[in-house]
Amino acid sequence: MTYLERAAGRPRKDTPVILGIESSCDETAAAVIRGRELLSSVILSSAPEQAKYGGVVPEIASRAHTEAIGEAVERAVREAGIGDEAPDAVAVTYGAGLLGALLVGLSFAKAYAFALGVPLIGVDHIRGHMAAAYLADPALEPPFVTLLASGGHTAVIYTKSYTEFEIMGSTRDDAAGEAFDKAARVLGLPYPGGPNIEKLAREGKAVIPFPKMFAGGGYDFSYSGLKTPVINYCHGKEQKGEAYSRADVAASFQSAACGVLAARAVAAAKEKGADTVVAGGGVIANGYLRALLAEECARAGLRLVLPEKKFCTDNAAMIAAEGLIQYRAGNFSDLSLNACAHIPLGKKGKQ
Ligand SMILES: Nc1ncnc2c1ncn2[C@@H]1O[C@H](COP(=O)(O)OP(=O)(O)O)[C@@H](O)[C@H]1O
Ligand SMILES: [Mg+2]
Repeated sequence: MTYLERAAGRPRKDTPVILGIESSCDETAAAVIRGRELLSSVILSSAPEQAKYGGVVPEIASRAHTEAIGEAVERAVREAGIGDEAPDAVAVTYGAGLLGALLVGLSFAKAYAFALGVPLIGVDHIRGHMAAAYLADPALEPPFVTLLASGGHTAVIYTKSYTEFEIMGSTRDDAAGEAFDKAARVLGLPYPGGPNIEKLAREGKAVIPFPKMFAGGGYDFSYSGLKTPVINYCHGKEQKGEAYSRADVAASFQSAACGVLAARAVAAAKEKGADTVVAGGGVIANGYLRALLAEECARAGLRLVLPEKKFCTDNAAMIAAEGLIQYRAGNFSDLSLNACAHIPLGKKGKQ
């Protein structure tokens, strides 16, 4: 019998304990859940080191993961308070992300699952961001509309069931988080861009008329259509030698970038007759966007489920949450599971 046959043949529990592992970018994370209850979450980040280079250096990330993965998993298992009870499955991000970084978490997870004889579950990182809401509200059930806004993806998705999705609209060029990062660079703000724009925006006013509803009808987004006016505005002022407020640029950019996200999520929910909007991805950690979503959903009579800020950016709790869905569906991975740099939205990566 192969490992997969043995692991998949184990009786499945209703509320399994699942260990999640995440290492796709610069966060080494591990978390334990029991059913939809979060027992522990550890996030060790190499971001401070990456900040010196203005972005993530893959080689540095991989080495940092190698050093941190043991501690992250040990702490997560200890802090979960499960004593001698072993996890019933190990869920791990297999893509998308930096290959070298992914391989650290993936190899660790394989060894851990193999040693315990429990199933290995390969998780698509973006599905993880989408599943974070299930931990925020353990009673949450599909159908609902999901707003996904991360560094690599921006989309409005109709989540029909735990495993079926309809992409109603997505970005035609840059993702929302990418736009935050690029705008931050134009304003001379350090990496990571999103949180720094949010901080600077608090000191400014959204008075510069950047386009609010940029190109692309329906539910599509075009963040490059927002990035260019921001760059042109700053460079134009600089060339003319005119002073301008960087804080006002940050606030105006943030207002435009977030306005379209909230508007499209609410419109999509209305079209589908859904009563709930959920959100996930790094940009959802933005306080201005969270307040705007709360306001617009309340006005439209929609329930809003937002993961805590620390579960919007990269973490392993969301990987365990998506792992639970796959566990219940009986979707287990083989030990030959490889890392995948790109996984198109709505598709499976190479398994
Ligand atoms: N407070 C914030 N405001 C706006 N953007 C943010 C904030 N925090 C993080 N981000 C953005 O989120 C992105 C990272 O999110 P993440 O969901 O991990 O992306 P991905 O998984 O696609 O790589 C970055 O582009 C970052 O700038
Ligand atoms: Mg992420």
